[in-house]
Amino acid sequence: MSFDKEILRRRTFGIISHPDAGKTTLTEKLLLFGGAIQEAGAVKNNKIKKTATSDFMEIEKQRGISVATSVLAFIYRDKKINILDTPGHKDFAEDTFRTLTAVDSVIVVIDVAKGVEEQTEKLVEVCRMRNIPMLVFINKMDREGKDAFDLLDEVEQKLGLKVSPLSFPIGMGYDFKGIYNIYEKNINLFSGESKKNIEETIAFDDLNSPELEKIIGSKAATELRENLELVHGVYPPFNKEEYLKGTQQPVFFGSALNNFGVRELLDCFIDIAPTPRPKMAEERLVKANEKDFTGFVFKIHANMDPKHRDRLAFIKIVSGTFERNKPYLHVRHGKNLKFSSPNAFFAEKKEIVDISYPGDIVGLHDTGNFKIGDTLTEGEELHYKGIPSFSPEHFRYINNADPMKAKQLNKGIDQLMDEGVAQLFTLEINNRKVIGTVGALQFEVIQYRLEHEYGAKCTYENFPVYKACWVEPADKNNEEFKEFKRVKQKFLAKDKRNQLVFLADSQFSLQMTQQKYPSVKLHFTSEFD
Ligand code: G4P
Repeated sequence: MSFDKEILRRRTFGIISHPDAGKTTLTEKLLLFGGAIQEAGAVKNNKIKKTATSDFMEIEKQRGISVATSVLAFIYRDKKINILDTPGHKDFAEDTFRTLTAVDSVIVVIDVAKGVEEQTEKLVEVCRMRNIPMLVFINKMDREGKDAFDLLDEVEQKLGLKVSPLSFPIGMGYDFKGIYNIYEKNINLFSGESKKNIEETIAFDDLNSPELEKIIGSKAATELRENLELVHGVYPPFNKEEYLKGTQQPVFFGSALNNFGVRELLDCFIDIAPTPRPKMAEERLVKANEKDFTGFVFKIHANMDPKHRDRLAFIKIVSGTFERNKPYLHVRHGKNLKFSSPNAFFAEKKEIVDISYPGDIVGLHDTGNFKIGDTLTEGEELHYKGIPSFSPEHFRYINNADPMKAKQLNKGIDQLMDEGVAQLFTLEINNRKVIGTVGALQFEVIQYRLEHEYGAKCTYENFPVYKACWVEPADKNNEEFKEFKRVKQKFLAKDKRNQLVFLADSQFSLQMTQQKYPSVKLHFTSEFD
């Protein structure tokens, strides 16, 4: 197959949702359609279990297992589909944010009863900022839930989206009869009481046909006609261009558990979802069909076995082909590296591959060369943008508890930060190190891993911070900036990239600082232009 055809057949995406909305179930059903797994449960068993949330080692162990499920690839209707795993667990939100830099589109799963939940709001906001095309799947239609129109409203209001329904439910919960597929103009009916299978799919171009009454009964038929009239009156028709620009989001309804509405979602998805998109580097925009290989690291997975310290770095291929044993430039180090056993992912397995294409993910064994955000090329000095840090939620001083092991501690901290486990800030005033994390769990993970993987011991001390704000550099002679740096010295630190960060200890002090020094630009993410 030609290079261009290989690009056109790829769809690389992530599924995002609040925990429990049905992401794992939907993923499994998609894999079943692709013939990538034989039975349900294969993915589910790798999921971080709810009961384990207080037991971090258990979570880490499960995360270890989940290397294989980090990328799930399968072929469906001749398209190569790559699903990138996005942990729903709040403490691993940073992982998910970073993975979102490597997807070309996303599917947002929403629970019909719970509506838009907190984690979904955060993740969708990140996608919106990046104009990532999004498709919404409203799940669990077999249960009683919110009215479909109320839910569409909620999606627009809370998530800031512009929806265009491509399917519409006929009833809900106990009365759920099926779905009218606006995209394909047909009706899918549930079979009987069990609601386990699709009984039949009936093409339905003309909704005014009396056939509709015969099939779903007169009450449901009238309701469906009215609902669809309202849908057409209120919502704009689906526009692929808008969807691809990230300014319109098609919506599907269904039930992942009952495999209802999933095939319709997948069929529409492979029709409309973007092929590997161009990516902005600091220097220029890089297109997928460029001949030379470029890619970037979006995730590093540590090996939990202390005897095998190597890690797996996940590279998203942006352009060209990635070939086994060919030397590529590691731009940050300025040196060439060759990889004899790059892993590709297929279903839940990984295997060594000779060649991979734009949109694909390869896993490279790494002994400490890579850091999240690193770029690989065929020689071009290129730096991919777009892996910002967000303000952590929890901050603590990290102290060395074993003076003989200072070197090990520093190395351990460095490598864990490269993996993106947490963020390190070094205080300007006394060079003390402060660790910032998204979840409190990470402090235990760090402590445990420092001890077991690096032989170093640490203790923590509370450091009350409300938010970390990245300070935009200003002219050296800017008096207000100088004054800000002098007065706030105690609260200033450098992050790993040597960017200046203001650690505000309360919302009040942040507001006061902004008022007092209006020309000092503070940002809530590490990336700003
Ligand atoms: P997540 O990955 O988003 O966290 O969600 P997951 O797929 O694990 O689904 C969460 C729960 O919701 C599971 O039940 C799952 O069976 C259920 N579920 C998913 N889709 C549907 C649906 O369409 N209808 C209904 N009624 N339930 C659905 P659980 O009891 O937590 O787990 P399990 O013991 O059933 O596996």
